[in-house]
Amino acid sequence: MREYTKISVYAIQALLLLFGFPPGVLQCAVGDEGYCSVPNQKADSNSQPLYWKVTNPTLSPEHLQDLPGFTRSVIKRDHAVITPESHVFSPLPDWTNTLGAYLITPAMGSHFVMYLANMQDNSKSALPPRDVERFLFVVMGTVVLSNASGISHRLLVDSFAYLPANFEHSLKCDTSATLVIFERRYSVLEKHISELIVGSTDKQPLLETPGEVFELRKLLPVSAPYDFNIHIMDFQPGEYLNVKEVHYNQHGLLLLEGQGIYRLGDSWYPVQAGDVIWMAPFVPQWYAALGKTRSRYLLYKDVNRNPLNS
Ligand SMILES: *[C@@H]1O[C@H](CO)[C@@H](O)[C@H](O)[C@H]1NC(C)=O
Repeated sequence: MREYTKISVYAIQALLLLFGFPPGVLQCAVGDEGYCSVPNQKADSNSQPLYWKVTNPTLSPEHLQDLPGFTRSVIKRDHAVITPESHVFSPLPDWTNTLGAYLITPAMGSHFVMYLANMQDNSKSALPPRDVERFLFVVMGTVVLSNASGISHRLLVDSFAYLPANFEHSLKCDTSATLVIFERRYSVLEKHISELIVGSTDKQPLLETPGEVFELRKLLPVSAPYDFNIHIMDFQPGEYLNVKEVHYNQHGLLLLEGQGIYRLGDSWYPVQAGDVIWMAPFVPQWYAALGKTRSRYLLYKDVNRNPLNS
């Protein structure tokens, strides 16, 4: 037994050398149990800006980063995991100096689109199609949101805005910014109208989550005019969903921080900050946070409409 352990340690060290690790990076304590571990990576979460990992993802495992054809992305009938190495950006129609990557669209079966918008120097947004509402969340940088009379809001990282369907507005950016945007054809409800909402995640109250341990914030009002909401869900490492959820609502998810395992149907996916998930109605879903830091994700969920009408 001992001989095999030694041989495999030498083999790992040789592999590490091959991949450019200096000798000594592998501190091995080969005792009777034969344990062996790579030292902890320094946590970078304290020195970097919020949501830094979303725009600077770890394409791990590192030695597979440049492996031809390797991706963690998976597209199935009732769910998809769309990881950063497979994102494809192209100019967003009618926007100025902005590259976008549509990650979830009705071609997958969703009733909404979810996309990343990379705004560059002197960039400007275009309006969504007629009768389509828009929600945006700032992941990196700063944008200025203006209405038709030129009244504006500066939106920093962690800020968001909801623009009702047919609400005239523009987003401008002087330097660079990354937004995650959701759009959906508004599901009209008689005698109700939705309104412009501008806010910041840290100003939203923590809500009760009976039977669950994660922390929940909702970015939009829970009232009837709003046909979807955006949840911000926080899990400490080791925390997981109690309910193994199966429900009629659909989801678009962006993992903002941390790492964990997402169960979707019969598949189990390691996920990390920067990953996007599509969940069709009724796909069994469950999350467990792992790693060393908090998991935080942002989640689209359709609400407040009878499934026969939406
Ligand atoms: C723009 O915002 C200001 C301040 O909220 C408001 O008074 C004004 O009516 C808005 N203009 C339009 C066209 O919505």
